[in-house]
Amino acid sequence: MPKRIFSGIQPSGVLHLGNYLGAIKSWVALQEKPARNASHSDAGGYDPIFCVVDLHAITVHQKPDELRQKTLEVAKTYLAAGIDPEKSLIFVQSHVPEHAELAWILNTITKIPELERMIQFKDKSSKNRQNINAGLFSYPVLMAADILLYDTNLVPVGEDQLQHVEMARTLARRFNSLFRETFVVPEPFIVKEGMRIMGLDDPKKKMSKSALSEYNYISLTDTPEKIREKIKKSVTDSGKEIKYSADKPAIKNLINIYALLDNAKPKEIVESYQGKGYAEFKKDLAEVVVGFLEPFQEKYNNIEDREVLRILEEGREKAKKMAEEKMEKIREKIGLL
Ligand code: AMP
Ligand code: TRP
Repeated sequence: MPKRIFSGIQPSGVLHLGNYLGAIKSWVALQEKPARNASHSDAGGYDPIFCVVDLHAITVHQKPDELRQKTLEVAKTYLAAGIDPEKSLIFVQSHVPEHAELAWILNTITKIPELERMIQFKDKSSKNRQNINAGLFSYPVLMAADILLYDTNLVPVGEDQLQHVEMARTLARRFNSLFRETFVVPEPFIVKEGMRIMGLDDPKKKMSKSALSEYNYISLTDTPEKIREKIKKSVTDSGKEIKYSADKPAIKNLINIYALLDNAKPKEIVESYQGKGYAEFKKDLAEVVVGFLEPFQEKYNNIEDREVLRILEEGREKAKKMAEEKMEKIREKIGLL
């Protein structure tokens, strides 16, 4: 059997290099493994679904017009980054109401203390004291519903989502033991170098769309001049050697970005910069980033909204069919008439 992949990104804020390297890049790689030769568990290839999770985005207040616009933009980003609608299913979460229905059901087997432990909830609610809403609290349950609804085997995400994937595993096991085997227990899929891209202005914090300064991140829509400026200004460690080690977090982060975009190993990058300084390294890195983002942006700008809407409509139909079939079984298991 091919392995089902499911992942998603919220249509809120700007998409940055951390989102691409931590998540989307591995989605594209997984998509390219054909779903055949299913003789043993790892040889089956992949059957990917990528979702724009708008119902998650509204756990933080969004302006309606902006939300609509961002939803299209995230879908366009998937396409421009190389997600191919012939190989992957792309759709919008709210187009398939079964996500919300399953989330409700899973809420009834989720314990409050389990949600209180969630790092992202603690983090988001401490940043936004005026709007600690029930949706924000049960956000991980909706994410579990997304994943479990499609019998997902693998969830490719950045490290910050591990705790949520763990929650989905717990809920799958709990439901299965309460109501007999129903859900596949999903596994997280993490790319080591990309799992945690750090801020350019502070290598102790992850690159984030909610960062206060734009010098924290490289947006996927930044111009070449902006990218060069941001990398030039990025903080560095003491010393001047290009070294890959935990006690040099700033340069380690830049080497990770370089390695991932150049499809090289960090070790190879370090070797090629022996005897060279930060300035030269940063200059080259900026060109690597520009070299990646320029063609990406060109593709992005050439995709028409109409085309995205057509792809999302196709995705809706396919996803809806799968979700309806699964929901039938779930309703029956729990005794809904
Ligand atoms: P978010 O931007 O929080 O909606 O995250 C979307 C996807 O990008 C998730 O899979 C995250 O784990 C991943 N991601 C976000 N920020 C980073 C980062 N700084 N480094 C690696 N992955 C990230
Ligand atoms: N919570 C994820 C994030 O913030 C987004 C997400 C929602 C997701 N549903 C998902 C990721 C299902 C993977 C699978 O990045």
